[in-house]
Amino acid sequence: MCTQEAFRAQRSQLVGLLVSGSLEGFESVLDWLLSWEVLSWEDYEGLSLLGQPLSHLARRLLDTVWNKGAWGCEQLIAAVQEARAESPPPEQHGHWDPHSPHPTRDLQCHRPAMVRRLYSHVEGVLDLARVQGFISPYECDEIRLPILTSSQRARRLLDLATVKANGLAAFLLQHVRELPVPLTLSVQDAACKKYMSKLRTTVLAQSRFLSSYDGSENLCLEEIYTENVLEIRTEVGMAGPPPKSAATLGLEELFSTRSHLNEDADTVLVVGEAGSGKSTLLQRLHLLWAAGQDFQEFLFVFPFSCRQLQRVAKLLSVRTLLFEHCCWPDVGQQDVFQFLLDHPDRVLLTFDGFDEFRFRFTDHERHCSPTEPTSVQNLLFNLLQGNLLKNARKVLSSRPDAVSPLLRKYVRVELRLRGFSEAGIELFLRRRHREPGLADRLVRLLRAASTLHGLCQLPVFAWMVSRCHRELLLQGGGSPKTTTDLYLLILRHFLLHAALPDAAPRGLGPGLLRGRLPTLLHLGLLALWGLGSSCYVFSDGQLRAAQVDGEDISLGFLVRAKAAVPGSAPPLEFLHVTFQCFFAAFYLALSADVKPSSLRHLFSCRQSGGRPLARLLPTLCVRGSRRQESSVEALLREAELHNLQMTAAFLAGLLSREHRGLLAECQASEKALLRRHACARRCLARSLHKHFHSIPPALPGEAKSMHALPSFVWLIRSLYEMQEERLAQRAVRGLNVGHLKLTFCGMGAAECAALAFVLRHLRRPVALQLDHNSVGDIGVEQLLPCLGVCKALYLRDNNISDRGLCKLVEHALRCEELQKLALFNNKLTDGCAKALATLLGSRQNFLALRLGNNHITAEGAQVLAQGLRANTSLQFLGFWGNKVGDKGAQALAEALGGHQSLRWLSLVGNSIGSVGARALALMLEKNVALEELCLEENRLQDEGVCSLAEGLKRNSSLKVLKLSNNGVTYLGAEVLLQALEKNDTILEVWLRGNTFLPEEMEELSHRDSRLLL
Ligand SMILES: Nc1ncnc2c1ncn2[C@@H]1O[C@H](COP(=O)(O)OP(=O)(O)OP(=O)(O)O)[C@@H](O)[C@H]1O
Ligand SMILES: [Mg+2]
Repeated sequence: MCTQEAFRAQRSQLVGLLVSGSLEGFESVLDWLLSWEVLSWEDYEGLSLLGQPLSHLARRLLDTVWNKGAWGCEQLIAAVQEARAESPPPEQHGHWDPHSPHPTRDLQCHRPAMVRRLYSHVEGVLDLARVQGFISPYECDEIRLPILTSSQRARRLLDLATVKANGLAAFLLQHVRELPVPLTLSVQDAACKKYMSKLRTTVLAQSRFLSSYDGSENLCLEEIYTENVLEIRTEVGMAGPPPKSAATLGLEELFSTRSHLNEDADTVLVVGEAGSGKSTLLQRLHLLWAAGQDFQEFLFVFPFSCRQLQRVAKLLSVRTLLFEHCCWPDVGQQDVFQFLLDHPDRVLLTFDGFDEFRFRFTDHERHCSPTEPTSVQNLLFNLLQGNLLKNARKVLSSRPDAVSPLLRKYVRVELRLRGFSEAGIELFLRRRHREPGLADRLVRLLRAASTLHGLCQLPVFAWMVSRCHRELLLQGGGSPKTTTDLYLLILRHFLLHAALPDAAPRGLGPGLLRGRLPTLLHLGLLALWGLGSSCYVFSDGQLRAAQVDGEDISLGFLVRAKAAVPGSAPPLEFLHVTFQCFFAAFYLALSADVKPSSLRHLFSCRQSGGRPLARLLPTLCVRGSRRQESSVEALLREAELHNLQMTAAFLAGLLSREHRGLLAECQASEKALLRRHACARRCLARSLHKHFHSIPPALPGEAKSMHALPSFVWLIRSLYEMQEERLAQRAVRGLNVGHLKLTFCGMGAAECAALAFVLRHLRRPVALQLDHNSVGDIGVEQLLPCLGVCKALYLRDNNISDRGLCKLVEHALRCEELQKLALFNNKLTDGCAKALATLLGSRQNFLALRLGNNHITAEGAQVLAQGLRANTSLQFLGFWGNKVGDKGAQALAEALGGHQSLRWLSLVGNSIGSVGARALALMLEKNVALEELCLEENRLQDEGVCSLAEGLKRNSSLKVLKLSNNGVTYLGAEVLLQALEKNDTILEVWLRGNTFLPEEMEELSHRDSRLLL
């Protein structure tokens, strides 16, 4: 039976159920409740307000039925079941009296059936009612509003009939009964079915191959797709217990996750760096849907690319967007479109590459009509906000820089794409190279070349490594270290293949490069112009303007764009935007038309969003290769910040000493190259200094702290590409901070390599905070060179496993400065305990070790305890959220009995019962240093607390004892109180969340104010 209490207990599930479908589902629940007279007309009016978030309405409905008592609650559950039933219940014809003396009441009583019958005939019934004088033309228009679905129009008509006393109700009661009974509200129309099948075939054809690369390798997505690390972004920085790690999820869970930022929004946002695999992830989604393998809750999936969409100059409506720019219905356009509008919850739209959409998101201009045309940007923004096709799911992918706080307001779930895990890189290589032994050799090569291994975290780099595998394997030692090295390697690969298909790999000799210099400069100019005018797909006219001809194209860096706008010639785009940046950098390094001074725009710390001109004048034209100096500067000023930063890093790499020789061979003036190099160096150093100077002074009593701005990461990446020790030294000479904070900065292994390259020259040690990044085991390896200048290393939430930690500890043994390690929320197990025990046993100035929320069990704790026995310096030890249990607690307690320095110990949430508590009590009797013991969320119960009370009687150092959520009753508290009488060191005993009656709490708090209840 449904009691009100049970109803209340299920509230959140009920809200979930009510909002999980579309507004249609919710409104049909209201239909049933009205027909059973659970809801009064006033109730109904308050619950059917257009424009209110569905979750608010759902909660209001639950409150309304709750107030009607148990009966109301039971009826609501029955209504939800009715509304969710696939097929309608048989209609009770006997009760439907077309000549009823109470037509208004009967209309209400048969409401669900009326809506069902009226649904596909509203237009005809409206016309008839108007002709017969029951409704006015104005009322007709109100019901026909384009934003309403057919069922909503049917309901509006019924609502009107209840208030109009002119016979409309009787008319409807008679007339609707004559209408044919539809089987269900599901797909019934042949036109829709035909369209669905056409759309599926189109999407399948588009998504089967990873065809963005030259014709030489058309990779089957099915065979090559490798799981990418996808994490849910959750709110951080709130009070309360430390946040759990960002949960990782599989692609199939994209729509089922419940971690909503805004549950009324429709848009799922996927954020990732360039080349992290966003487009590929969406392509996989499309393929799974089109092949019928997943996401079958959607009947229609419409893929769009923002770089293509922004080329649409004419006004367009939702209808033209779907039909003309994705898939045209051969028959029954109106029916198909109406079906889409009526069943938005069965529709998915994906928009790839929002960072390449040149219009900034705004919610100023509301557009609600699905048939009225508007500008492409306004259409997209209103779709994302849900003003158009509300309840249709939208997936938007973007690089992080282009996501504004305003856009986030309309995001249901935000996901971060982190790239390949270490295992993912290996799997990818094995899928790409099935020849016996080849993948093994490549994996071995990567393991030996950790910087290159780190680069492969980014799928686009993993693809490049696999593409150039022959060159890499032949090269032996000296594999690429920087991204520029890697792009020059692939440049060589393409040049060689274009020259002699079977040529044995040789060096990227100056001859090879010089011969192709005109081609490279043409591509470079096109690339630069594209960046400066937010253009990433190029028409024939644009190619001609940059003098790119067939031979240049045949090199393979430009490929046909996949989803072209119908009616125009299929345009070309660069293999990947990173190649566009690389070629732009090449042009800037080598073209005689570029003045060194214009390079300064690349290395200045411009904030994102400061490029007004391109937003207003998107069609700056290429004027040919004899470019005005000022136009190069203008292009650099207008380019999107993230592309500019990438170009800057490549330029730094190309101008580095290592590659300057190669470039000098290609062009007459080495002097010109040197001048560019000097300018780049100067600007880079100046920008870094500016960054350091902007750090506010330290607060009194605190170390000076710097929170790096996103541009900092790119400055150090550029510096790393230059590979100049002296420049790195100079760069940090002025850095005088105690704490360097790089949290949430998208730090992967490549960024860690750059950071270590710079930081190892610091004169004074820093605390380095890298929490919430994607450092991983490979990134930890990259950090080792700067471990010597770290006094603390914070690596919370970074996907680090035992392998990475053991490497870290191996080095930490020799780094006397390093005194604190925070490793909360990683993937550590007992496998790292031995290394940590060695660290504690041999480093007698080590202060803090925080291992919360990992997977350490009793076995690990026992091993670690050995290290603790031999240690005399540790002050903080954190085990929150592991699984050490009674045995682990015993081992730690025994090791800590005589420990002289430990002040804080956390064993929160470790399944510790009374046995562990007894051991901890014995430790308290002997220990004279521990000041805070955190034991919340265990299973201590009264027995455990009584033991601890005994320990407290003989302890004189403990100040805070935390025992919240441990199943303690009044009995346990009573024993504690007795112990407290004999202990005046203790200041607080936390007992919240235990099992006390309200009057017991009242009494206990009066007896000793040190009890926190
Ligand atoms: N999951 C994956 N499995 C196999 N290969 C992948 C995967 N993800 C990406 N790749 C490879 O990396 C390349 C770059 O990925 P993709 O184009 O999807 O990145 P992106 O995040 O969309 O980049 P951008 O920000 O430039 O749009 C792909 O063309 C493909 O070769
Ligand atoms: Mg992409």
